[in-house]
Amino acid sequence: MTILGRSSSTLYSAGTDMDIRNRHSTAALKYNDHRSEFCVHSQLTSHQRIVVDQDGSFLADTFAQFQREGDCLVIADQRVCELRPDILARLPANVPLLSFPFSERTKTVETVELVLDFACNTGLPRRGMFVAFGGGSCTDVVGLAASLYRRGAPHIKIPTTLMGMVDAGIATKNGVNFHGLKNRLGTFLPPELSIVTPDLLATLPSRHISNGLAECIKLGVIAHPELFSLLTGIAAKNGIEEFRAGTNRTLGIIKESILKMLESLTGNLYEEGSLQRSVDFGHTLSPLLESELGDAILHGEAVALDMAFHTILATNLHLLSAHDGARILKLIRDLGLPVCHRVIDRGFVYSAYQSATSHRGGALNLPMPQGIGNCKFLTDFSALDETAIQTTIDQLRSCQNDTSKLAFNVTAAPLANDA
Ligand SMILES: NC(=O)c1ccc[n+]([C@@H]2O[C@H](COP(=O)([O-])OP(=O)(O)OC[C@H]3O[C@@H](n4cnc5c(N)ncnc54)[C@H](O)[C@@H]3O)[C@@H](O)[C@H]2O)c1
Ligand SMILES: [Zn+2]
Repeated sequence: MTILGRSSSTLYSAGTDMDIRNRHSTAALKYNDHRSEFCVHSQLTSHQRIVVDQDGSFLADTFAQFQREGDCLVIADQRVCELRPDILARLPANVPLLSFPFSERTKTVETVELVLDFACNTGLPRRGMFVAFGGGSCTDVVGLAASLYRRGAPHIKIPTTLMGMVDAGIATKNGVNFHGLKNRLGTFLPPELSIVTPDLLATLPSRHISNGLAECIKLGVIAHPELFSLLTGIAAKNGIEEFRAGTNRTLGIIKESILKMLESLTGNLYEEGSLQRSVDFGHTLSPLLESELGDAILHGEAVALDMAFHTILATNLHLLSAHDGARILKLIRDLGLPVCHRVIDRGFVYSAYQSATSHRGGALNLPMPQGIGNCKFLTDFSALDETAIQTTIDQLRSCQNDTSKLAFNVTAAPLANDA
């Protein structure tokens, strides 16, 4: 199933429903090719719409429609307000607007309280609409506030980062960091509407474009060879700039990534169904990397390091050919993401595996790339060949100090602050 090019009308055409059912959730995903609109119907939400707003007109019209005072409020990322006054200018003057410097550091209970204060002070009614306009930090906080307000108010997510467009801004999860732990508090409540306006990426710094691309690479590697090819295509040129400029190829990458992400979400709404989730590729070492490195690393960078590690491990375990391994590592590096970090040693890998095992129902359930567009799960880490893990670490280390030593001849792109 794809929405790429000509196949869109034959394989996944307007009006085609896909029912995804498992023990824990029943959901239907529908894509309207003509309007670039995805719809998810599920027991979590009667109707979740995701509109890919190719020319920005849907966003402008939606803003212009927020007219009646008290029916909705907009909570926006301060930086985006500064950079895109043209968009905020479309908001009717009587719509309450809270501009706030959202970031990983301000993704806290205190910020949720601030948003709720704003809702109370502006008299938002019981079914009033929260509108989040920002990156994942903003949409996670506002989604959580909405889910708490009067036992659950509707909300709209308008992601302004690539990470938001392909992941956080279309997700069913909301959350904040608590007691130094990422996303320790949160709820499942999907937005009624997500508006994905690629034009908003024009001002996004390169590092944050790369950050979002890590999630697209993940989907390409484990589930979608055509997406992988599209990414390879932009990586060969100046891919990051192409994203900022917005082309048909980058639009295709965004749509395909949303489709794959929604397919995985709708099949497992509460993440209680299958504990073997292919979208966990890149998400086994990354939580520990993020907690050890804190602000020094972005989520997508941690995902990239994890994907690079498991790509090399997969070749050492003969699950993946050296050729495909090299293609994946080259793509990660070419899209501005790191492939190695000194913090990853054997102890680190084993503690990350232990923590993943307890999180995934007592089995490691580690997705490993098996060719491009396919994956296989490793369930028991005690059965994993220690030599292969150590060899992988050594290859990563030599990659950091002397790129020519790496079997795949991949030039490392270490983090800027990596000593
Ligand atoms: N709910 C989920 O399922 C889910 C999924 C993925 C990520 N997340 C969460 O998302 C958060 C990260 O989100 P993010 O990567 O979008 O970063 P972010 O929201 O923290 O934003 C990063 C920076 O980019 C700035 N910014 C945002 N949009 C911009 C634009 N268009 N132009 C210029 N600057 C802009 C922001 O001001 C901020 O400084 C993490 O907390 C992560 O846990 C949640
Ligand atoms: Zn992720």
